[in-house]
Amino acid sequence: MSVDDKPADWDATKYARVATPQREWSDAVLARLDLKGTETVMDAGCGSGEVTAHLMERLPEGRVVAVDGSPSMIDKAREKLGEDRVRYFVADLAQLELDEPVDHVFSNATFHWIADHEKLFRGLHRATMPGGMLVAQCGGRGNVAEIISALAQVTREEPYAEHLGQIESPWNFAGPDETEVRLVAAGYVDVNCWLEERVAHPDEPQAFFEASTLAPLRQMLPEDLFQPFSDRMMEVMGQPDSFNYVRLNIEARRA
Ligand SMILES: C[S@@+](CC[C@H](N)C(=O)[O-])C[C@H]1O[C@@H](n2cnc3c(N)ncnc32)[C@H](O)[C@@H]1O
Repeated sequence: MSVDDKPADWDATKYARVATPQREWSDAVLARLDLKGTETVMDAGCGSGEVTAHLMERLPEGRVVAVDGSPSMIDKAREKLGEDRVRYFVADLAQLELDEPVDHVFSNATFHWIADHEKLFRGLHRATMPGGMLVAQCGGRGNVAEIISALAQVTREEPYAEHLGQIESPWNFAGPDETEVRLVAAGYVDVNCWLEERVAHPDEPQAFFEASTLAPLRQMLPEDLFQPFSDRMMEVMGQPDSFNYVRLNIEARRA
């Protein structure tokens, strides 16, 4: 698998239940978006809609364009948020074409699933009104190092190697410097990117691990192998009850 593949469908119900660390971290990201409350803002990779709901609280007279590559996530978000002030799109953010530009773009815990950040930023830039902000956080350089190391081992063990042996990293954990260069090349100004370390202490560590980090691997394994694979990963990592993250923060303005 590579991150160039079509976006995977996620287990939206499980994600909605367990993804509390991403939700907690998103508050600080949302707080950096300066809003009057009347704007239209894209949530790029809205997932099951919990973070989008917080974005909507900041937009009492505004609207949200909720984009995600996973049909299950969009269904779950629609169930949660309704149709009133939200438009939904099942779309690959790397191929984004909106009919109308938005005022700002917000994104949480999504960009590291996309291989081609040059293309991603060009698409987001096209989709934003002049003067609009891009405020985002995603996995950055050094993220989930323990998981990457376990993945390198377990994907070479049978019976997983047959299905995952050729796996390339499913993530694109970029650094701040290269990201700033890509943003400027896409036409953004006032760019500012930085890394931040975080530790996730989920209530249900394995369920959290399965619903977030491992989510796209579910489709690459026969159904009966996913659980043993997840169990083996947890065993190799020493049954962790926390996970070390490095987040990449992104701020930029469309000229
Ligand atoms: C970890 S979830 C984050 C969801 C939500 N923003 C949150 O903070 O809870 C990552 C989301 O990115 C979406 N995603 C991954 N690759 C994508 C792509 N190429 N285009 C659109 N969405 C994508 C997944 O479907 C998933 O919903």
